[in-house]
Amino acid sequence: MPATVVVGTQWGDEGKGKLTDLIAKEMAMVVRYQGGHNAGHTLVVDGETFALQLIPSGVLYGHITPVIGNGVVVDPGVLLAEIDKLEAKGVDCGRLKVSGNAHLIMPYHGELDRATERRLGKNKLGTTKGGIGPAYADKASRVGLRVQDLLDPKIFRQKLEVVVKEKNALLAKVYNRLPLSADDIADRYLGEYAPRIEPLIADTVSLVHEALDAGQHVLLEGAQATFLDLDHGTYPFVTSSNPVAGGACVGAGIGPRHIDRVVGIAKAYVTRVGSGPFPTELFGSVADDLIERGHEYGTNTGRRRRVGWFDAVMMRQAVRLNSLSEIALTKLDLLDPFETVKVCVAYEVNGERHEHLPYHQSDLHRAVPIYEELPGWGADLSAATHLADLPAAAQDYVAFLAEQAGVPIRLVGVGPGREQFVHFAA
Ligand code: GDP
Ligand code: IMO
Ligand code: MG
Repeated sequence: MPATVVVGTQWGDEGKGKLTDLIAKEMAMVVRYQGGHNAGHTLVVDGETFALQLIPSGVLYGHITPVIGNGVVVDPGVLLAEIDKLEAKGVDCGRLKVSGNAHLIMPYHGELDRATERRLGKNKLGTTKGGIGPAYADKASRVGLRVQDLLDPKIFRQKLEVVVKEKNALLAKVYNRLPLSADDIADRYLGEYAPRIEPLIADTVSLVHEALDAGQHVLLEGAQATFLDLDHGTYPFVTSSNPVAGGACVGAGIGPRHIDRVVGIAKAYVTRVGSGPFPTELFGSVADDLIERGHEYGTNTGRRRRVGWFDAVMMRQAVRLNSLSEIALTKLDLLDPFETVKVCVAYEVNGERHEHLPYHQSDLHRAVPIYEELPGWGADLSAATHLADLPAAAQDYVAFLAEQAGVPIRLVGVGPGREQFVHFAA
């Protein structure tokens, strides 16, 4: 059976958690393929809210095997706290599997993330400060420790000894920070974390292939989003992994021929948290209103998100980069009170019209959005369950976005709850 990818098409927080949970109903396995606890995926089920960071959003279903793939960076302390929190709410995490090839986030990664941000001052990236970037950097530098190293205390201590020496020099000499103790770290990781993580460690590549070979359906859940992608995002204001659909192959261990459906999640407007270009950004009372009504504050960090109108130029690029087969549009209900709703259909850069993303990022900083203004619907959509429940103006807005993107919009979210969505196109 083929695999499906869920991918964010903007700058994150599009509602991937909600959509993954929704689609997971028909799946046997949900695999997180990149990122780490920088993600915050919210599910609202029967009025109860679950904010997931590392555990795949299918975990609430008893029939799903949730898998943390090799492409993820894992802070074991965060993972265990998340398991405890879910289990306290009655969610069974016993089926969770963690790839032995996933890299570990170590205490010096968090230290370095925070120290780098402090040093950058007003030029900071606005990271989530959890050590994601430094952990991926160590992976690329081939000095990372992996989840499977927890199974071999001798190797773990040997590797750690070497790395900590270098990190301490960096922390002390460049960032004026106190050194870390390799022994303390090893005691915590091997003594406290390893016994609880060990039963979860698995050859997840084999698990995924066994599921596919058995004709089961596998869902690959992206974190972050297309324009936070290390290669394709608004560099350097990006994360350090590849959220784009292609990253799902690497981060789960499958080839592209296994994937036959790529669902791009898009908010009916756009948000971004952290620094970087944002052509359709809104300020003033319209922004304040959307932020407050939309609760646009970071799931983990509590930071106020930036907001802007829907950007069809970026969406066309997201369609290309991910081979989107369809879009799921979320938070349409947040546009309910507007008399008119704007959509950016192209940019003007140096007097020229661009329907596709300008290649040079300086042009993106200079891009002036060209808007089409559509009539609002002035009605509460939150109780809509069928297409016919959406007023004509709301249907027209969604149809316009689909036409601009060039791919169908199949699901439309009208509220945070699992059941608050409408099938828009077959
Ligand atoms: P993710 O990181 O992509 O999973 O998204 P987040 O969970 O960080 O942010 C999305 C927020 O929007 C969460 O609070 C969701 O509960 C909420 N949400 C998702 N879909 C809808 C929707 O259609 N309408 C409304 N009002 N809220 C939604
Ligand atoms: P989900 O999966 C929104 C942003 C940070 C920062 C940049 C780099 O919930 O959509 P990092 O800590 O990854 O090195 O930070 O990326 N960022 C996110 N923004 N949603 C996320 O995840 C994000 N994960 C990282 O704000 O700008
Ligand atoms: Mg989020």
